[in-house]
Amino acid sequence: MREFALEVENLTKIYERRGHPPVRAVDGISFSVPRGEIFGLLGPNGAGKTTLLKVLTTLLRPTGGAARIENFDVVAKPFEVRKRISMVLQETAAELFLNVRDNLLTFARFHGLDSQTARLRAASVMEKFQIASYAEQKVQDLSGGSRRRVQVAKMFMVDTPVIFLDEFSTGMDPILKRAVMGYLREESAKGRTIVLTTQILSEAEELCDDILIMNHGKQVARGDLNALKLLSVGVYEISLTFAELPPGIAGDIAALKPLRSHVEGNSVEISLKVEEAKVLDVVNEISKKGRVLRVEVSGASLEDIFVELTKEK
Ligand SMILES: Nc1ncnc2c1ncn2[C@@H]1O[C@H](COP(=O)(O)OP(=O)(O)OP(=O)(O)O)[C@@H](O)[C@H]1O
Ligand SMILES: [Mg+2]
Repeated sequence: MREFALEVENLTKIYERRGHPPVRAVDGISFSVPRGEIFGLLGPNGAGKTTLLKVLTTLLRPTGGAARIENFDVVAKPFEVRKRISMVLQETAAELFLNVRDNLLTFARFHGLDSQTARLRAASVMEKFQIASYAEQKVQDLSGGSRRRVQVAKMFMVDTPVIFLDEFSTGMDPILKRAVMGYLREESAKGRTIVLTTQILSEAEELCDDILIMNHGKQVARGDLNALKLLSVGVYEISLTFAELPPGIAGDIAALKPLRSHVEGNSVEISLKVEEAKVLDVVNEISKKGRVLRVEVSGASLEDIFVELTKEK
């Protein structure tokens, strides 16, 4: 039998505000996450990701359905749930009046760590997140990106079985982000379960064992990366580099009605939904427009799938 860290059944959250039509922010979502897995929630702005995390972390009551974290119901047993989770939400504020070290120590104490262990961990976590040099500075005096580091660093102070991260990498530089992705993988290898939301698809592609794509509160796709890629059989990414960008190429690309396209320097990238037999014809056509230095054709990326699944019909 598999052990699930999270079980979500037909969960719904409707925001009701006087004078406004109700918003079905989460609309019948079901999924479960085995222990130790990294689960990604993806979706465009307003899809309902943050609302879903708020319900799972007991900050909001669901309108319908049920969710259990480590077998505790989020509505019936919110305190049991809270003991077992730690979270960084989009608008989470660190304790602004405390310095960086005390932020970490307070958080660890709240989760029941003894002070000796907490101090040792704080030292190593501050090192990992490159915040040791401002250990004594109040969080309110830090840049946005550094505050984010402090918030995410807290997750590594404690051993809660489940971690929720709402767009954890916002404001982090690419090098730190890469390092943090590595730390998250280490936590999951230790058996902690991680649920994260992101708009950055390469992040999900690299990190997540399982992905749920949502739009308008509903699931539009679910699976590991390979399964999701099968959803978009027939979507190809073509990239070409010209010696010189041919004039009028933007119009030529638009005429192909691509799912998306991107021109940068002398290179163009086009994602197209076409029959397999026609891909090479398309490549030939575009190649005639100028002197081509490099051509590459590949299958769909997660970004293509995302665009395909969440575009307004
Ligand atoms: N407190 C609220 N009252 C009313 N409507 C809300 C409230 N919070 C969110 N909504 C609405 O619920 C929907 C889902 O919002 P939510 O913040 O969960 O989306 P999201 O997927 O996290 O978006 P983003 O990618 O921008 O963070 C949106 O239509 C939003 O306007
Ligand atoms: Mg959000």
